[in-house]
Amino acid sequence: MKICVIGTGYVGLVSGTCFADIGNEVICVDVDNKKINNLSSGIIPIYEPGLEEMVKRNLKQGRLKFSTNVSNAIKKSNLIFICVGTPIIKKTNAANLKYVFQVAKKIKSNLINYKIIVTKSTVPVTTGDKIENILKKNKFKSKFDVVSNPEFLREGEAIRDFVVPDRVVVGTTSKKAIKIMKSLYLPIIKKSTRFFSTSRRGAELIKYASNAFLATKISFINEMANLCEECNINIEDISVGMGLDQRIGERFLRAGPGYGGSCFPKDTRAIVTLAKKFRTNLSIVNSVIKSNENRSKILFNRILKILKNKIKNKQITFLGATFKANTDDMRESPCLSLMPALLLRGAKINYYEPTGAKKELHKFKKVNYSKNIVNATKKADLIIIHTEWNEFKHLNLKKLIKNKNVIIYDMRNIYSPEKMKKNGIKYYGIGK
Ligand code: UDX
Repeated sequence: MKICVIGTGYVGLVSGTCFADIGNEVICVDVDNKKINNLSSGIIPIYEPGLEEMVKRNLKQGRLKFSTNVSNAIKKSNLIFICVGTPIIKKTNAANLKYVFQVAKKIKSNLINYKIIVTKSTVPVTTGDKIENILKKNKFKSKFDVVSNPEFLREGEAIRDFVVPDRVVVGTTSKKAIKIMKSLYLPIIKKSTRFFSTSRRGAELIKYASNAFLATKISFINEMANLCEECNINIEDISVGMGLDQRIGERFLRAGPGYGGSCFPKDTRAIVTLAKKFRTNLSIVNSVIKSNENRSKILFNRILKILKNKIKNKQITFLGATFKANTDDMRESPCLSLMPALLLRGAKINYYEPTGAKKELHKFKKVNYSKNIVNATKKADLIIIHTEWNEFKHLNLKKLIKNKNVIIYDMRNIYSPEKMKKNGIKYYGIGK
């Protein structure tokens, strides 16, 4: 099929490339000229394992193209995927749809024949209706269908999540559109992935509800971890014991520093705002948001306790700075609230980040980037394991122990207290 993907961020670039990889002709378009030129020469602006190789392969085989000529790409395609950003409006916590509607108007003026317009960006319930109303006024009187097809891609696992998804959700009542979407996803769903079609608004809500529920699971286990710390229980036993119940499931029950990233924080706030518009109070999601926002205060107080309230001039090292491992994304990373709080109390901070120095941290004078783990941890009084990169799983404990006072605060429970005790290292985990 001939596909046009509008927006080449995490969602658009991964989706467009994967659609090309399963045999479609794809043009990914963006207004950012520099970005498009880079992409056309295989330079990828995001850290996503496996993406660069897949882009280069499909560019070479001519199935994947990049362009700034949106009109032309729309005219030549049967399916148009809207993958532009829907950032949060700070004041109202609602999703900002201005880019979505700008694209819808662009599609309207190039709707020369029947096309399926697909919203893949995370959009509030009823957005598809609004796009439909815009397109109805197209001067060609062309027929079309507006379909919701939300993505469930995790950063760092996006290609895998696209190629082997738990489910493909398509929201439309048009039989013609369902048939076409089913044949588009055939190479993926034939491996027994569930192809689930529902109403358009239903598909729009499934995305928000899924992220809100996953965020709830994470905040739930983090609060259980708080309780475990008070009654000397190991949270990891609770996660295993709970997860063995098929109705609960073992995934997304790892206690940690709280959820970050671009999706959970944004989508939980957006679904609460949307619900309010429909006179519904999502009290559980509201408390999940508050619980997660409060988490950095809880972790900060734990650090105060670990350092016996002596933070001034202490050398604190963060291993990892991004919101989770296998990504370069700093959006809503827990360290962005923890580091300033520690600096305010006079701490000196080093960090090592596998994806390199982070511009978000340059503004803090007493935060230094170290090129490797050894330099970062050399004179540390406290080492905070902030993300679960594999390279943090084999720290040279013998070398670390040379620094007698070192303490490890393992916010990802990578290590066991027993192993640390055996190596003579003072160690704190989460929920232990
Ligand atoms: C999420 C959803 O998983 C994905 O389906 C959606 O399309 C986009 O948002 P992402 O934000 O990339 O993906 O990361 P994810 O791996 O889901 O982790 C989200 C946050 O939860 C991270 O901060 C992570 O550290 C945290 N997390 C995840 C935990 O604290 N514990 C867990 O067990 C799992």
